[in-house]
Amino acid sequence: LKALSLFDFGKMRAAGEKITMLTCYDASFAALCEQAGVDSLLIGDSLGNVVQGQTSTLPVTLEHMAYHTACVARGCKRPWLIADLPFGSYQESPQQALRSAAVLMAAGAHMVKLEGGAYMAETVRFLVERGIPVCAHIGLTPQAVFQLGGYRIQGKTEDSAQQLLNDASALEQAGAAMIVLEMVPAALASTLSAARSSMATIGIGAGADTHGQVLVLHDMLNIYPGRKARFVRNFMHGAESIEAALRSYVQSVKNGSFPASEHSY
Ligand code: KIV
Ligand code: NA
Repeated sequence: LKALSLFDFGKMRAAGEKITMLTCYDASFAALCEQAGVDSLLIGDSLGNVVQGQTSTLPVTLEHMAYHTACVARGCKRPWLIADLPFGSYQESPQQALRSAAVLMAAGAHMVKLEGGAYMAETVRFLVERGIPVCAHIGLTPQAVFQLGGYRIQGKTEDSAQQLLNDASALEQAGAAMIVLEMVPAALASTLSAARSSMATIGIGAGADTHGQVLVLHDMLNIYPGRKARFVRNFMHGAESIEAALRSYVQSVKNGSFPASEHSY
């Protein structure tokens, strides 16, 4: 199996083919996701919730992220691997972000992800110029849950929607090759995605018009005991195995049947 590259994602976007992404935290699931044809695996700091049993992503450390990134990297060859920079490991300065990103890249990541809008553009540029691909993340940014007042939809007012459009432009100009849009109105994500030239949008609770989709693995396999968000579909429903559920996810994203309007805002 040939490893996917940013070049391949550019070709997929040009061809109108959706990018499939799931979170992943260990080697066994990485192998299953690869087998099922998932294009990209996100070693998300959601591991704080679904692996560690924390109530937020804030306690996750860089060492935790490096450990799970190495576990995933040993389990697969083809998927594009994105590792989250955890809370407190990048917000201080571009230099701090570079030191932290280097740890994740050495552990096997191909790209790092960081949360935040236009104010993170300087950091994004600093990393990209030094050879580290960056995925941005705007909308509901879980590391800011206490500032945002909970896990709620973002970009509902005209001002906040315009802010998200400005953020995406600044991050794209700074060189971010991907951006996660979490819990924003489908119409806004559609407008934002259509305006992109070099940056692929990956939605979670952002409607069907993004360039790709991501879900938390434990949510879509229905093995997380917590309350499920509106945007999650249980792909184990009607599937005879975990691999079948993963295949069903890939197929549903590729053919545009997931997400449906019932999963969107
Ligand atoms: O950590 C995570 O799982 C994420 C996704 C929800 C995008 O950041
Ligand atoms: Na995350």
